Amino acid sequence: MTNPSILILPGDGIGPEVMKEVRKVIDWYGTKLGLVFDVSEDLVGGIAYDAHGTPLHDSTLAKAQEVDAVLLGAVGGPDYDNLDFSVKPERGLLKLRKEMDLFANLRPAQCFNALADFSSLKTEVVSGLDIMIVRELTSGIYFGEPRGIIEEGNERVGINTQRYTESEIDRVARSAFELARRRGNKVCSMEKANVMESGVLWREVVQKVHDEDYADVELSHMYADAGAMQLCRWPKQFDVIVTDNLFGDLLSDAAAMLTGSLGMLPSASLGAPMANGRPKALYEPVHGSAPDIAGEGKANPIACILSFAMALRYSFDQGKEADRVEAAVESVLADGYRTPDLLGEDGVDPVTTQQMGDAILKALNATL
Ligand code: IPM
Ligand code: MG
Repeated sequence: MTNPSILILPGDGIGPEVMKEVRKVIDWYGTKLGLVFDVSEDLVGGIAYDAHGTPLHDSTLAKAQEVDAVLLGAVGGPDYDNLDFSVKPERGLLKLRKEMDLFANLRPAQCFNALADFSSLKTEVVSGLDIMIVRELTSGIYFGEPRGIIEEGNERVGINTQRYTESEIDRVARSAFELARRRGNKVCSMEKANVMESGVLWREVVQKVHDEDYADVELSHMYADAGAMQLCRWPKQFDVIVTDNLFGDLLSDAAAMLTGSLGMLPSASLGAPMANGRPKALYEPVHGSAPDIAGEGKANPIACILSFAMALRYSFDQGKEADRVEAAVESVLADGYRTPDLLGEDGVDPVTTQQMGDAILKALNATL
């Protein structure tokens, strides 16, 4: 049997330095447990633009389509802010999502016990929090046509289009219901059916999928603005939230912050199953490229390491190993290891990106 394959795309900013720590965890599996991955690396984002004049070279996309899982660091940075829209680093990421048809973006917002005090919300509101946002990722206003900036009379008009087909809503709804069955068995669907036709259709289709195939799962609907409010008021009422591309972008950043730090949260973007039964998949931290701290050893590698844990769970059928990585992260946090983003008022000295990675390896060793 061939080894499972992973394509690593470190990208820009802090991407390469956090990915270095992930690489150690991947290698740990080979050395300690004989779980060997075939790992290759390539460029995406600004660094790909510098090398090839495009944020995603065709050969990189072709590799991404072939491997069992893609692990991505982050894209973007101030050097690329003035580039034409079509070659901005972010376009590389969006093209990967679209071309691989990764329609279901899973963004967990989980509060680590050791960090409950670190949230901007009261401890009792967030401790034990464990929600999963399923964001539609390949359609909606991010990709809808017409789009652009046009001339109209004597001024310019910026246009984007929110557009959803029934089948696009249907498939992401199914992903959410399937996940809910393996968790708390509850789905809350969020849209703006009070003002948007696409929201009316969204609500109808989600309800239909539920009634026909997932009646055992508890379903509720909420307007996305009310959903944002409820997320801040009492987030523990939610289990799985399913929502569109743009609302999912906003709500997942808000949910991430509830947990104490954006630097902690992983994500998985999943598509249809490939010939080998594994879903097409890309894993990436929710945080961005943080150019202000790039190269300083200040970045928190945990979100990226937990993204690899999600790969273990969703691509490689290694749920127990995913638990092992998550437990190792819990234990280093409990032991007081903190990168600068996790520092409170308690006067703890921060550790570097590399020291955090090493501590996690040590915690992994302790589980053997
Ligand atoms: C995210 C990011 C991206 C998005 C950007 C970098 C294109 O904010 O993954 O949430 O808007 O989808
Ligand atoms: Mg975002």
